[in-house]
Amino acid sequence: MLSCKFFRQSAEMLLKVFLVLLLNLAEHNINHCSYLPHATPDFTNLSSLELVSSLKKLNLNGNFDFENTRRVANDFGNRYHFLPMAVLLPKTVSDISTTIKHVINMGHNSELTVTARGHGHSLQGQSQSHGGIVISMESLEEPKMHVHTGEQPYVDVSGGELWINILHETLKQGLSPKSWTDYLYLTVGGTLSNAGISGQAFRYGPQINNVHRLEIVTGKGDILNCSAKENADLFYGVLGGLGQFGIITRARISLEPAPRSVKWIRVLYSDFNLFTKDQEQLISSDISFDYIEGFVIINRTGLINNWRSTFSPREPLQASQFSSEGKTLYCLEMAKYFNPEDGNIINQETEHLLSKLNYISHTLFQSEVSYVNFLNRVHLSEIKLREKGLWDVPHPWLNLLVPKSKIYSFAEEVFGHILTDTSNGPILIYPVNQSRWNHKTSMVTPSEDVFYLVAFLTSAMPSSSGSDGLENILTKNKRILDFCEMAKLGAKQYLPHFDTQDGWRAHFGPRWDVFARRKLTYDPLSILTPGQRIFRKGRAIS
Ligand SMILES: Cc1cc2nc3c(=O)[nH]c(=O)nc-3n(C[C@H](O)[C@H](O)[C@H](O)COP(=O)(O)OP(=O)(O)OC[C@H]3O[C@@H](n4cnc5c(N)ncnc54)[C@H](O)[C@@H]3O)c2cc1C
Ligand SMILES: *[C@@H]1O[C@H](CO)[C@@H](O)[C@H](O)[C@H]1NC(C)=O
Ligand SMILES: *[C@@H]1O[C@H](CO)[C@@H](O)[C@H](O)[C@H]1NC(C)=O
Ligand SMILES: *[C@@H]1O[C@H](CO)[C@@H](O)[C@H](O)[C@H]1NC(C)=O
Ligand SMILES: *[C@@H]1O[C@H](CO)[C@@H](O)[C@H](O)[C@H]1NC(C)=O
Repeated sequence: MLSCKFFRQSAEMLLKVFLVLLLNLAEHNINHCSYLPHATPDFTNLSSLELVSSLKKLNLNGNFDFENTRRVANDFGNRYHFLPMAVLLPKTVSDISTTIKHVINMGHNSELTVTARGHGHSLQGQSQSHGGIVISMESLEEPKMHVHTGEQPYVDVSGGELWINILHETLKQGLSPKSWTDYLYLTVGGTLSNAGISGQAFRYGPQINNVHRLEIVTGKGDILNCSAKENADLFYGVLGGLGQFGIITRARISLEPAPRSVKWIRVLYSDFNLFTKDQEQLISSDISFDYIEGFVIINRTGLINNWRSTFSPREPLQASQFSSEGKTLYCLEMAKYFNPEDGNIINQETEHLLSKLNYISHTLFQSEVSYVNFLNRVHLSEIKLREKGLWDVPHPWLNLLVPKSKIYSFAEEVFGHILTDTSNGPILIYPVNQSRWNHKTSMVTPSEDVFYLVAFLTSAMPSSSGSDGLENILTKNKRILDFCEMAKLGAKQYLPHFDTQDGWRAHFGPRWDVFARRKLTYDPLSILTPGQRIFRKGRAIS
């Protein structure tokens, strides 16, 4: 029971307890709006009115919305707000194709661009289109979700489908996708355009590794099916392709039998080396947990005191173990899937796995939850944060992939010097082994087999000039990035964001040529997804 209490508290902590402190500031920030300079819509030759009327004449199953455009001029990052000219609410794939073909026929005469918007949970305007057309992918009504059972089960879904809906639908057949994100109110098209990384990726690879087949509308308006065998260049290009080559309208996702329950376990470390050695050992064993993540807790002035209250009073902690100021703790988080009838075996297996770990004794927290509640855990935090008005704040998140050989130097500098506390949001840190991942996709990773995902999931108060202020957090982010650069860590951004094409070239490195060549092939006019700021309509691709 007490461990349940811990989990309730720590679930909230995942999207953070500390936000309560900021409650009073939250209201100031609701209408925070910023437009980038130099980005005024410029329909050079056609007037907007002519554009609107030409769009209205298109023969669609769905429709355009020209009025209610402000709601898509936002995203989870809540820092960029680009107003589109129109929102397409497509019903069918052909609506998307027709629209793109129309934009192409207008040629270079306008700056009109097209952006697929999934659930709009990107961070820096990637799902927005200044003065362009935003396609609301969740409106797409085809295909109807369909689960195929059998030896190698899969589900066919629309590119605009939310992962939470896929979970509920596949569970009806006792099945489930294999690889997840921590949060499920994201669309298939949105996560497949990046990677989809969570605690299962060490075993199955990211979500882009668990897709058999896609249907794509390219930047030329062509509707193509693709897979590893058919149109393979497009297939791999689109996976992790940041929306640059086509719009994902359907996907075939690999499934496995779903467990009913999950043992959810957390243990604490004060020694970073022990923590990472244990994580690395767990991801490399054949018999292991089904989910492995971890996070960092820094509070130079004593967050640890708060933590103590979540421990069981039956196992009181020696205050001396934790009270030292400036101590950083590392929490290893694991989950074991099971069905209740196998409870005993699973208990033994779990105990055996835990017996090999070197965490601080008495810091083991266990709980059992349903599979759905485990996968959907962040949604519980979302509900609480929304109630407090703390969900729609700016999120200057930074996600990095750091090679294993450099993780110690990284931690020493970033957790030891740059950051003074984790009160602005959780910092996730866990390793994956990419040796069995598919390397033909557009996703960029460090060159070592094993690398760490380090996610700084901060929330900011724009009106604050304190450490919780946006500017301060952005400055820290920059210091982290500068350190990675200067120390030549070979780290890569995940959910990457660069302001210049040089930044993008450096990110892709030797793979830039393939990326640019695919752009020329599938979206030669650079109509698609300008919000990534990689290519620009009207500029040559090189
Ligand atoms: C609370 C939270 C938790 C998260 N946890 C994780 C995590 O654990 N692991 C992880 O990997 N990521 C995580 N993310 C990041 C998330 O996976 C990405 O931001 C993802 O892009 C969001 O999906 P979306 O449907 O909201 O996409 P959007 O923001 O709508 O779109 C993202 C990009 O993809 C493009 N796009 C969208 N749909 C399509 C399509 N059908 N075809 C082509 N391009 C398309 C858009 O144009 C845009 O450029 C998290 C995000 C949040 C907010
Ligand atoms: C469109 O505008 C550009 C720049 O303003 C101009 O160079 C071009 O000739 C115009 N094209 C047409 C068809 O009017
Ligand atoms: C793509 O495949 C689906 C079945 O998965 C089919 O219904 C559709 O017609 C195909 N589209 C094209 C353009 O071949
Ligand atoms: C990563 O996976 C490869 C292939 O399975 C294996 O040879 C290697 O030892 C693994 N590395 C770690 C650290 O687990
Ligand atoms: C850090 O520790 C101090 C002292 O216990 C506490 O008052 C503060 O709330 C902690 N900060 C956070 C963000 O929890």
